[in-house]
Amino acid sequence: CGQKQDAQTQGGASEPQASTEVKTYVVGSDAAYAPFEFQNDKGEVVGFDMDVLNAVAEKGGFKVKVINTPWEGIFATLEQGDRDIIVSSVTITDERKQSMDFSSPYFEARQLIATGKGGETIKSFQDLKGKKVAVQTGTTGDEVVQNLLGKTSVDIKRFESTPLALKELENGGVQAVVGDNGVVQNYVSNNPASNLRMVEDTQSFQPEFYGMAVKKGNQALLDKLNAGIQAIKSDGTYDKIHAKYFGA
Ligand code: ARG
Repeated sequence: CGQKQDAQTQGGASEPQASTEVKTYVVGSDAAYAPFEFQNDKGEVVGFDMDVLNAVAEKGGFKVKVINTPWEGIFATLEQGDRDIIVSSVTITDERKQSMDFSSPYFEARQLIATGKGGETIKSFQDLKGKKVAVQTGTTGDEVVQNLLGKTSVDIKRFESTPLALKELENGGVQAVVGDNGVVQNYVSNNPASNLRMVEDTQSFQPEFYGMAVKKGNQALLDKLNAGIQAIKSDGTYDKIHAKYFGA
């Protein structure tokens, strides 16, 4: 009810399209990140993030067109105007906040270690010293490994996607992967034959919060996203989506 109100608001001088037209925003997402964003057998981008996004769009009376976009360079697409929103399990960080704006947080995550053959002695993050560790390039996992362990004491192998980093672990090329917990858990439980083990370290890893990113200064869009996030949290829609992917 009343979902199309926003698009029909009169006198929105900043909106270039006709006032009766429903606005479509172009969304970038690196869809190699199950269960948050991945491609189904029809090639559509689906997952937790997409369910949240679609529910937010429905509340705000706008449409979205999701384009699978490589993680490397994903933020530049906002700058270039090729994407209006990045919805890709993006952790809100102070550094990123300098070059883009974030919606209010919609998910809490934390880094998680996966180990395999040769990683039996790894019990905490500090045990990664002297080990070969795979990460997805430019992620918070990449950052945390660099910052906490220092560039010399750890051999970082960077991959363009998290599944590729985990594949390398399965193949024995590294002794550990550091990545977002939801994605690491999903991979490990879907690949039982690979005998990967998960190591939590809540001392070393701080909570992270996912937000939707927009071009710096796009307050109008940010307001719509925040209103939508607020609305789906208070009417139970968010909880339903959460339960669908992560259990109640
Ligand atoms: N949360 C991490 C970060 O923001 C990783 C996100 C990677 N997302 C993706 N769809 N590949 O750095």
